[in-house]
Amino acid sequence: MKLLITGASGLLGINLALEALRAHEVMGVDRGKLKSAPFPVLKADLLHRNAIDSILERAQPDWLINCAALANLETCEENPDLARVLNAEIPGELAQACRKRGVRFVHISTDSVFDGEKADVYTEEDPPSPPGTYSQTKLDGERAVQGSDAKAIIARVNFYGWSLGGKRSLGEFFVNSLSAGKHVNGFTDVIFCPMLVNDTARLLLAMLDEELFGLYHVVGGQAMSKYQFGVEVARKFGLKESQIEPTSVLSSSLTARRSHNLRLSIHKLSTDLGREIPQFSTGLDEFYTQYQQGYPQKIRGYQQELPTES
Ligand SMILES: NC(=O)c1ccc[n+]([C@@H]2O[C@H](COP(=O)([O-])OP(=O)(O)OC[C@H]3O[C@@H](n4cnc5c(N)ncnc54)[C@H](OP(=O)(O)O)[C@@H]3O)[C@@H](O)[C@H]2O)c1
Repeated sequence: MKLLITGASGLLGINLALEALRAHEVMGVDRGKLKSAPFPVLKADLLHRNAIDSILERAQPDWLINCAALANLETCEENPDLARVLNAEIPGELAQACRKRGVRFVHISTDSVFDGEKADVYTEEDPPSPPGTYSQTKLDGERAVQGSDAKAIIARVNFYGWSLGGKRSLGEFFVNSLSAGKHVNGFTDVIFCPMLVNDTARLLLAMLDEELFGLYHVVGGQAMSKYQFGVEVARKFGLKESQIEPTSVLSSSLTARRSHNLRLSIHKLSTDLGREIPQFSTGLDEFYTQYQQGYPQKIRGYQQELPTES
C-alpha cells in the first residue's frame, strides 16, 4: 500500500514510517527537519492554504495516518488558537479530503481526553471530559474526523520511544537524565499505560490491514505511575533508580492540568484484531535493544544531510 504520514518528523511519525517501510511504500510530510530519511518527503506546512489538497495530489496515497499535532500540553495552553487549528480543524479537513478521494484515514488522538476522575479503567464508551486545552482540542479533532469520515480510524494512544530530537519521550527523559547523573522527579499520582512507539506503529498498520474503523484505545496493557515507569526504565538500562524522586504532579512546575488516572481498556482493540496486545516488558526490552544497536543515533541522523559521494 502507499502510505502517507503527516508529522513524519515527530516521535510517532518517524518510527511509524520506519515500521511501515518493511511492507509498504511510504511518503512523509515534513516542514523541513528531515534531511536524509530513508523515504521520500513532501515539504509542507499544514497551516498553509491548499496544503492538504497538494500533498494528497502529489502522493496519491491509499492510506494517510495523521501524526501531526501540537502535542505539548504547556504550548497548547499558551497558544490555544494554534492548538485548535492543528489539533481540531486540520484533522477534520484531512478526513474530509481523504473521504472524497477514497483514502483510508487514521487520526491519532490521546488518552488524555479523560479527566482521570473515574476509579476504574476507561473504555471507548466512556464520555470524555478533557481537562485542558490540549485534550479539549484533541477531542474536538476526534469529533471533526468522525463527522467527516465515518470509516476513519481514531486511535487514542500513549507511547514512548526514540525521537529525532532525542528528548521527546518520557523514556528518553529518564535514560538521558539518569545517564547524566541527574536527579529527577517521577510522578506517583499520574497513572498511564505506556507502549513502545514501534508497537503502536505496528498496531496501527495492523488495524488498517484488518480494515477496522471507528474509535480505539491503542495503549499498553499495563497501567503504572510515571515514577514506576522511570524505575522500570532505570532497571532495564542498568541506571540508578535512586536518582528518581517519587513526587506528586501537584507539586511540579507544570502548568497544564494532568489527569491522575489514564488507565484505558484495550479489550476492543485486542478483540477486533484477534490478538494479544504486546506486553510492557516486551516493549521495554525492544527499547533497550534499540539503544544497544544504535537506533537512537540512526533516527537523529535523519536530521542531517548525508555526505555526497565523490
Ligand atoms: N507522545 C505521546 O505519548 C502521545 C500521547 C498521546 C497522544 N499523542 C498524539 O500522538 C500524535 C503524535 O505525537 P508525537 O509525540 O509524535 O508528537 P511530536 O513529536 O510533537 O510530533 C508532532 C509532529 O507534527 C508536526 N507538525 C506540527 N505543526 C505542523 C504543521 N503546521 N504542519 C505540518 N506538520 C506539523 C511536527 O513537525 P515539526 O517537527 O516540523 O514541528 C511533528 O512532526 C499527536 O497527535 C499527539 O497528540 C502522543
